Amino acid sequence: MRKTLVISGGTRGIGKAIVEEFASNGVDIAFTYNSNSEIAENIVAELSEKFGGKYKAYQFDILQPETYKELFKKIDEDFERVDYFVSNAIISGRSVVGGFGPFMRLKPKGLLNIYTATVVSFITGAQEAAKRMEKVGGGSIISLSSTGNLVFTPNYTGHGNSKAAVETVVKYASQELGEKGIRVNAVSGGPIDTDALKKFPNYEEVKGEVVKRSPLSRMGLPDDLSGITYFLTTEKASWITGQTFIVDGGTTFA
Ligand SMILES: NC(=O)c1ccc[n+]([C@@H]2O[C@H](COP(=O)([O-])OP(=O)(O)OC[C@H]3O[C@@H](n4cnc5c(N)ncnc54)[C@H](OP(=O)(O)O)[C@@H]3O)[C@@H](O)[C@H]2O)c1
Repeated sequence: MRKTLVISGGTRGIGKAIVEEFASNGVDIAFTYNSNSEIAENIVAELSEKFGGKYKAYQFDILQPETYKELFKKIDEDFERVDYFVSNAIISGRSVVGGFGPFMRLKPKGLLNIYTATVVSFITGAQEAAKRMEKVGGGSIISLSSTGNLVFTPNYTGHGNSKAAVETVVKYASQELGEKGIRVNAVSGGPIDTDALKKFPNYEEVKGEVVKRSPLSRMGLPDDLSGITYFLTTEKASWITGQTFIVDGGTTFA
């Protein structure tokens, strides 16, 4: 029987790589985008042609976590089941002003936006996903996280502490959802070459530093996180829950 993945932010970077990984493994996919509807529809067309499964894109804003309820209702109309949920989308640009910056310039609005989009959205999305997973006897929930809560990253207080919170939510959710056959984990990436990172004002500097620090002498790529995310949904990971997996090219210890 074909399984279904719901993932936030499937149009770019890591989310897009995860979508392709699951599609290539025969999984049907409901993915969201925020503003790039054209890119989203192109991805649907490409996946359909290449893999022949069921793929659909939905507009969704992680700054409005309560609307996950409506999103899942729409997904219910198009898909028969939900087996996997990946909380991947991240905000950038104007909505992180005051949240992404030096410590002394942090402002409540930007910080709260990051918390809402990263932590609250993960919780509300996972709740809706878990209700559906319970009906099919279990499932797997994964949030993307970042080693920015382990390694000092300039301007990253807002994101770093929200990712630390996400990892704590993973542990709590895993304890409560285990009896329903639902596993909950996080995949924490070191710096990965995506649009989000390119928006860092010191992108070139960060890139150079990562290549220098990693014993593998390169930046991370979106595909470096997609394989482990898929693995965590499989039977081979059936006793893994409440954990955070670090994929950082060895940079955290360097
Ligand atoms: N890049 C890194 O170095 C790195 C490292 C570790 C972990 N991560 C984590 O990996 C995840 C993905 O990061 P990325 O670098 O792939 O990001 P990205 O390239 O900036 O892509 C962001 C995705 O989120 C969507 N999005 C943006 N604003 C949104 C909003 N308000 N509501 C809903 N969706 C929205 C985008 O949709 P549109 O295309 O429609 O805008 C896009 O699909 C994040 O959780 C991030 O923290 C990233």
